[in-house]
Formats: sequence, C-alpha cells, structure tokens
Amino acid sequence: MRVGILAPMPQELDAVLADFDADRAELVAGRLFHRGEAESVEAVAVISGIGKTSVAATTTLLIERYGVERIVLIGVAGAVSRELALGDIVVATAALHHDLDASPVFPRYCVPSLGVERVPCDTALSALALAAAQEFADGSSARVWRGLVVSGDRFLEPAEIAELRERLPDALAVEMEGAAVAQVCAEAGVPCAIVRSISDDGSISAFARFLERDAGRHAEGIIAPLLRACGRK
Ligand code: ADE
Repeated sequence: MRVGILAPMPQELDAVLADFDADRAELVAGRLFHRGEAESVEAVAVISGIGKTSVAATTTLLIERYGVERIVLIGVAGAVSRELALGDIVVATAALHHDLDASPVFPRYCVPSLGVERVPCDTALSALALAAAQEFADGSSARVWRGLVVSGDRFLEPAEIAELRERLPDALAVEMEGAAVAQVCAEAGVPCAIVRSISDDGSISAFARFLERDAGRHAEGIIAPLLRACGRK
C-alpha cells in the first residue's frame, strides 16, 4: 500500500523525511515529490503548498501520478474552539470550506460535486491517525480532539476567528488546506485523514514560534506511528 503525505510547511516535511529510507525526489509541476520507505511502508511525501488551490493540485498529482491509496495531511492550525490549547492535536472527522458560498445557487458551504457542506474524512484511516496522535501526546500536556476542521484561503487573525466561532460553533480548528484535500480525495474515492496541531489563536507570532520550535517534532512524531499502523493493515 502506498501512502501520500502532504505537509504545508518545509519544517514539517523535512522532519517527516528524516525517517525515509531511499528518498528519491522528482520535480513535477513545481513540486518536489519524495518517494521512499518509512516504517516499512511505501510513501510519497510532498509540500502541499499553502492554500486550497495549491493543495488541490498537489493532491490530484499524488493520486493520479503516484497512485497513492491513502492520503494524510499533517500540519498546524489556529484554534477556533476556546477549549483547545496550543500544542493540542485535532484529527478531523470532516472538513468544510468556510469561504465557499455559491448561494443562492447552492446552500452556503456546499461542495456542489459532492452535495455536502461537511466533507467526511475516512473513518478507518482517521482512527489510525487518532491512535498515532494519542501515542505522540502521551505523557505530555497535549490533548487530542476529533471534530470539524474548517479551511479557507486566509490566515485568520483573532477577530476573524471570533466571527468564525459565531458562524460555525462546532468548528475546532481553522487552516488553509484540509477541505480541499478532503474534497479531492472524496471525489477520487481515496481515503484521507487530516491531523493538525494547534499553533495559534490567530496570533502570527505564536504561529511563527510554533512552526520553528514544535511543528516538525509534531509532524514526525505523529506520522511515524501512523505509517507503522498503516503497515500492519
Ligand atoms: N494555520 C495556522 N493558524 C492559522 C490561522 N490562524 N488561520 C488560518 N490558517 C492557519
């Protein structure tokens, strides 16, 4: 089984690649795809790009050109729910485009090709991701959550996150890629999981600090046990 790994930031990808044997890199459409083996699983890891257009194209390439059979998006997110703390981890049950609005033609947030607002992530793969996140968080103060992740083409500052909380009260976290990955995977019939560590509450300095200090450690620490579990399936 071949697993595709998407990471928006180089700090995250580099940490994941540290565990790869025989990393072979290939430049396609401006993206460097790394093929190798990790935890005895064939994997293809790539920087997704930031924002929904970039990640949609990268996801399509992973599926169509590299034949991946499962996709995991790893990265950071801003906290929407007030219950989440920095360093907590969210495994998405579903993802929603918070900036998609084709009303009155379609209901707000509805993805017309799928006829849903909340695009579900794969239950089985997300269960493996949850166990991997719990293994990583074990012994630390970090908590692991399951729930709705929302995505849009903006980095949201605190006032915008407050508005989003009013609009989508069950959203746990906000980022810029998840809904696009979930949509492309659902359209193609490829199981996907989305795992996000909380880096900020809209503060750009908190985001930058988490990225430098923690994002790589989280990405590697979650992807390694997840690939191990995929290898056992
Ligand atoms: N990714 C991490 N933090 C974010 C934020 N505040 N808004 C959008 N994407 C993010």
